[in-house]
Amino acid sequence: MADAEKTKPEGVRVDLTGQVALVTGASRGIGRAIAIHLARCGATVAGVARTVDALQGTLAAIREAGGTAEGFAANVGDSADVARVVEEIEAKFPKIQILVNNAGVTRDGLMLRMEDDAWQQVIDVNLKGTFQFCRALGAIMMRQRYGRIVNITSVSGLMGNPGQANYSASKAGVIGFTKTIARELASRGITVNAVAPGFIETDMTSVLPDKIKAEVKERVPVRRLGEPEDIADLVAYLASPSAGYITGQIIAVDGGMTA
Ligand SMILES: NC(=O)c1ccc[n+]([C@@H]2O[C@H](COP(=O)([O-])OP(=O)(O)OC[C@H]3O[C@@H](n4cnc5c(N)ncnc54)[C@H](O)[C@@H]3O)[C@@H](O)[C@H]2O)c1
Repeated sequence: MADAEKTKPEGVRVDLTGQVALVTGASRGIGRAIAIHLARCGATVAGVARTVDALQGTLAAIREAGGTAEGFAANVGDSADVARVVEEIEAKFPKIQILVNNAGVTRDGLMLRMEDDAWQQVIDVNLKGTFQFCRALGAIMMRQRYGRIVNITSVSGLMGNPGQANYSASKAGVIGFTKTIARELASRGITVNAVAPGFIETDMTSVLPDKIKAEVKERVPVRRLGEPEDIADLVAYLASPSAGYITGQIIAVDGGMTA
C-alpha cells in the first residue's frame, strides 16, 4: 500500500454491508482510497478506470483485506463507453446503492493560450462524465427508492485558480449540477452531495514544483497537505444510510483553505 495509506489511522467506519458502490477513477489517488475505504466499510466495489489493468492494485488491496471488488474499463468522457460500462456493471450488480464520481483530469494553462481540445477534454471527463453516470445510476436508484451520490469537485471550482480555467469551470459545473439533481432526486430517497478537496497528495499534484507545494502549505491553516484518506472518510459517511438528511451540500476538505 502507498505510504499515505499506512500513515493515516484507519478512519471512521460506517456500515455499508450488503451495498454496492460504483467508484470512477478508482485506480489511484483519491479514487483508490475511496474504493478501499468503502470496501473496508463492507461495500462491494465496482471500480471504473480507463483499463482494468490499472485497477489491479486497488482490487488486490481490497481482496487482501477480505473485501469484494470488480474492475471495469471505460473512458468516462465518452458517452457510448459510459452507457456500455453501466450496462455491464448493472448486469453483474442489479442493485447499486452508491455512486462516487471521482475520475478527473487537469490540462492546465493560462486561458489566453488554452486550446479548444484542452478545454473540451477536461469538461468531458470531469463534468459530462459525472452527468452521464448520475443519469444512468439515478434511474436505477429511483427504482430502488434509495441512493447515495457523491461527486468529487474541487476548491478550484469554489475559488477559481489561475491556470485552471477549464478545470475550475468543470468543477464549478459539478457544484451547480449537484445542487440541482439533489433537488430533483430527494423525494425518492436519493441524496446527492459534493466533496471539494483542497490540495491532496496524489499523482495529479505530484507534478507541481516543491516551491508551489511549500506555498500551498503556508496557505493552509492546518499546515499540511491532505491525504487521499482525508477525502475517503467523508465520502464513506455521505454514502451511508446515516447521512440521509444531508443533500445538495458542497463540503470542502481542505485543511481550512477556504474558511
Ligand atoms: N489531488 C488533488 O489535490 C485534488 C484536489 C481537488 C480535487 N481533486 C479531484 O479528485 C479526483 C481524483 O483526483 P486525484 O488527485 O486522485 O487524481 P489522479 O490523477 O491521481 O487520479 C485520477 C483518476 O481518474 C481516472 N481517470 C482520469 N481520466 C479518466 C477517464 N477519461 N476515464 C476513466 N478514468 C479516468 C484515472 O485513471 C485515475 O484513476 C479528481 O476528480 C480531481 O479533480 C483532486
